[in-house]
Amino acid sequence: MSSKLIAPSILAADFANLQRDIEMINDSEADWFHIDIMDGVFVPNISFGMPVLKAITTHTIKPVDVHLMIVDPDRYIKTFANLGADNLTVHYEACPHLHRTIQAIKAEGMKAGVALNPHTPIALLEDIIQNIDLICLMSVNPGFGGQSFIENTYSKVNQLKKMINKNGATTKIEIDGGVTNKNAKQLIEAGADILVAGSYVFKSKNQTETIKDLKALANS
Ligand code: DX5
Ligand code: ZN
Repeated sequence: MSSKLIAPSILAADFANLQRDIEMINDSEADWFHIDIMDGVFVPNISFGMPVLKAITTHTIKPVDVHLMIVDPDRYIKTFANLGADNLTVHYEACPHLHRTIQAIKAEGMKAGVALNPHTPIALLEDIIQNIDLICLMSVNPGFGGQSFIENTYSKVNQLKKMINKNGATTKIEIDGGVTNKNAKQLIEAGADILVAGSYVFKSKNQTETIKDLKALANS
């Protein structure tokens, strides 16, 4: 059984053919749908909101991994649960009461994720690691697809993996931004569990094959 997961990011899909692209992922070897919600405040871009997410989750047959790049995410936790999110990831930098936010996500029956911007130190999670189901390490500055991978991510994955093991936690490590076949293997070797890939999947000629190859690489 494969244990490393691939989560294509819908941000890079063809929004005029969203159902087609969702069905491609349903039929592929991908494990999760990664859905980026941006508010134009926390990040300098706006992606899409609730009605589009609702349309997406009508067609998905795999877990839906929602990445919130928004300020004050606590306001919408119940809404995202009702819209069909399985994982809800909030940004460390957007949550002054992170412990409370994580409890609220779990109380709605979702897995709780915390994302870190590239400049945010891993050590800030030491006192809360036991409570977090998923840590999303941003390997680009959040807000846009198609950016270049930041190399310092490998060392952050290493540090985070050590922290997880030291604390006996079961937290999974997700990498988001600039993931391709060039860095996938090294990320997994450093300790990553889930690879998000947007442009690399959707800009490729044969998307199903690209997902299959990335999955094989991650589990080789
Ligand atoms: C960036 C988003 C990512 C993005 C990744 O802010 O969080 O999920 O879609 O896209 P690529 O794989 O193109 O870097
Ligand atoms: Zn994302």
